[in-house]
Amino acid sequence: MRTLKLSLVIVAAALITFGFYGTSQAFHSGGVAECGGCHSMHTPAPGGSFLLVGTDQSSTCLSCHEHAGDTGPSSYHISTAEADMPAGVAPLQRTPGGDFGWLKKTYSFTVRGTTTTEDGATHGHNIIAVDKGYAVDPVNATAPGGTFPSAQLACNSCHDPHGQYRRLSDGTISKSGAPIIGNGSYNTSATPAAGQAVGVYRLLAGAGYTKDGITFNGVPAAKTPSTYNRTEATTQTRTAYGVANTGGHETWGNWCSTCHPDMHSTGNYVHPVVEGLGSTIATLYGQYVKSGDMTGTLASSFSSLVPFATNSSDYTALAALAVNNDSQLGGPGSSDQVMCLSCHRAHASGWEYGLRWNMEGEFIVYNSLYPGTDTTPTVPQFARGRTSAETGAAYYDRPVAQFASYQRVLCNKCHAKD
Ligand code: HEC
Ligand code: HEC
Ligand code: HEC
Ligand code: HEC
Ligand code: HEC
Ligand code: HEC
Repeated sequence: MRTLKLSLVIVAAALITFGFYGTSQAFHSGGVAECGGCHSMHTPAPGGSFLLVGTDQSSTCLSCHEHAGDTGPSSYHISTAEADMPAGVAPLQRTPGGDFGWLKKTYSFTVRGTTTTEDGATHGHNIIAVDKGYAVDPVNATAPGGTFPSAQLACNSCHDPHGQYRRLSDGTISKSGAPIIGNGSYNTSATPAAGQAVGVYRLLAGAGYTKDGITFNGVPAAKTPSTYNRTEATTQTRTAYGVANTGGHETWGNWCSTCHPDMHSTGNYVHPVVEGLGSTIATLYGQYVKSGDMTGTLASSFSSLVPFATNSSDYTALAALAVNNDSQLGGPGSSDQVMCLSCHRAHASGWEYGLRWNMEGEFIVYNSLYPGTDTTPTVPQFARGRTSAETGAAYYDRPVAQFASYQRVLCNKCHAKD
C-alpha cells in the first residue's frame, strides 16, 4: 500500500511538472486516445461521418489543436483561430510543422503599378476543416506531382488518427507486436524495453496505411524536443530528422513522395533529395553564417530554417540532437542528407509553397530590417503586403541581426552563391 501511494505521488508530481512546462497533457500518449475525444456514440456532429465530434475529420482534430484565445505559441496547438490573428498580425504557433493559420493570410501588394495577390492557400497544405474555416485548395486539384485529390486532404491523410504504428524495442516499426506505453516523438520519451513499444514520430502514417489511392511504405524517423512550440528569438528548436535504415521506416523524401511521386529526384528534373550532401556542401553549410560571411565553424552551424536529415535512425542518437537550448548546433557530415523538409514545412509556413523562407525576391532582409509595409524604405516586392512583424514571425522571431543587413535566400546555406 505504501509503495502504491508513493508511486501515485511520483506520477502526480510528474504530471504537475509536465503541466507546468506546458508540454504534454496526455491524450494520444503515442497511440489510440480515449475514443470519446474524437467520437460520440450518441451525439456526434450533425452531417458528419464516423460518429466524429467535428463536422469532418480535420475539424475533429482541430477541436483540440486550435484554441481561440491563444496569445502565443501554445503546446500542441498547430492552428491559430482567425480572431487571434487580425490583419497585420501573424499566426501564433511556432511548431516545426508550422501553423495552418498561414493558409488564411492572403496578402495584396502593388509593385510599379501592378497589384499582386498572394493567396494564403499557397502557404502549404490546405486541410479541409469546415468548422474552422479551412477549405480545399483553389488551384491544385491533386497533390502536385501525384494523384492524391486535394478535396480529400485532411489531418488523417498523413497522421493515423488511431496511432497504431509503433516502434518496438529493436527499433523496427510495426502495427502490433507489443503495447504502446507512451509517445515516442520527444527527446524525453521512454526507450521501449523488450515487450514494449512507443508511438511512432508524430503518429504519422506507416506501411500499409491507405487513403484515396495512395499507400504509405513506412514512417519517417525523427525526434524533437518535448517543448517544441516556442519562439526561436533566443534559442533554436532543433528537430533531429533521421533516415530509414531499420525495418518499417521510410526516408522523409519517400514519405512525402507517397503523394508527390514526381517531385522525387529519381528520373525527374527536380532538386535532389534523399542523397548525401557530399563534402563540398557539408563544408559550405558549416562555414555559412549569412550573406557575405563564411567565417562559421561546423560545430555551431545548425539552422532550424535549413535542417537536414542525419544519416541515422538510431533514436537515442537523434534524441541527443533534439534540444531547444542551442547545446547541439553541429552541422552536417557529408553523408547527412538534403530532404523535402530542408526547404518546406510539413503543414504550412509564412511563405509560398510552405517554404521555410521567402523565395519570391532576392532579399529576405533589407536595410537590416525584416521587410514590411511599415519599414523605411518600404520595398513592396520584398514586404509582399506583410508587416515587418509578420515577416519576423515567419522566421520564428529570430532577431534580424542573425542575418546579413542585405540577406539573400537560404538556398545559400548549402550553396553559398551569395
Ligand atoms: C484522435 C481522434 C480519434 C480517436 C481518439 C479515435 N478515433 Fe476512431 N476515427 C477517427 C477518425 C478521424 C476516423 C475516420 C477515419 C477515416 O476518415 O478514414 C475514425 C474512424 C473510426 C472507425 C471507422 C473506420 C475504421 O478505421 O475502422 C472506427 C471503428 C473507430 N474510429 C473506432 C475507434 C475506437 C474504438 C477508438 C478508441 C479506442 C477510436 N476510434 C478513437 C478519429 C479518432
Ligand atoms: C481531445 C483533444 C484532442 C483531439 C480531438 C485530438 N488531439 Fe492530437 N493531441 C492532443 C493533446 C493533448 C496532445 C499532446 C499530448 C499527447 O501527445 O498525448 C496531442 C498531440 C498530438 C500529436 C503529437 C503526438 C506525438 O506523439 O508526437 C499529433 C500528431 C496529434 N495530436 C494529431 C492529432 C490528429 C491527427 C487528430 C485528429 C484525428 C487529433 N490529434 C485529435 C489532443 C487532441
Ligand atoms: C496524403 C498526401 C500527401 C502527403 C503525404 C504530402 N502531401 Fe503535399 N500536398 C498534397 C496535396 C493534395 C496537395 C495540394 C493541395 C494544396 O496545395 O493545399 C499538396 C501540396 C503540397 C505543396 C504545395 C503547397 C502549395 O501551397 O502550393 C507542397 C510544397 C507540398 N505538398 C509538400 C509536401 C511535403 C514536403 C510533404 C512531406 C512532409 C508532403 N507534401 C506530403 C498531399 C500530400
Ligand atoms: C501533409 C501531411 C500532413 C498533414 C495533412 C497534417 N500533418 Fe501534422 N505533421 C505532419 C508531419 C510530417 C509532422 C512532423 C513535422 C516536423 O517535425 O517537422 C507533423 C506534425 C504535427 C504535430 C506536431 C507539432 C508540429 O507542428 O510539428 C501535430 C500536433 C500535428 N502534426 C497535428 C496535425 C493536425 C491536427 C492536422 C490537421 C489539421 C495535421 N497535423 C495535418 C504531416 C501532416
Ligand atoms: C532545395 C529545396 C527544396 C527541396 C529539397 C524540395 N523542394 Fe519542393 N519546392 C521548392 C521550391 C523553391 C518550390 C517553389 C517552386 C519552384 O521553385 O519550383 C517548391 C515547390 C514544391 C511543390 C509545389 C509545386 C507546384 O507545382 O505547385 C511541391 C508539391 C513540392 N515542392 C514538394 C516537394 C517534395 C515532396 C519534396 C521532397 C521529395 C521537395 N519538394 C523538396 C524547394 C524544395
Ligand atoms: C540542405 C542543403 C541544400 C539546400 C538548402 C539547397 N540545396 Fe541545392 N543541392 C543540394 C545538394 C546536396 C545537391 C546535389 C549535389 C550537388 O549538385 O552538388 C544540390 C544540387 C542543386 C542544384 C544542381 C542540380 C543538378 O541537377 O545539377 C541546383 C541548381 C540547386 N541545388 C539549387 C538549389 C536552390 C535554388 C535551392 C533553394 C531553393 C537549394 N538548392 C537549396 C543541397 C541543398
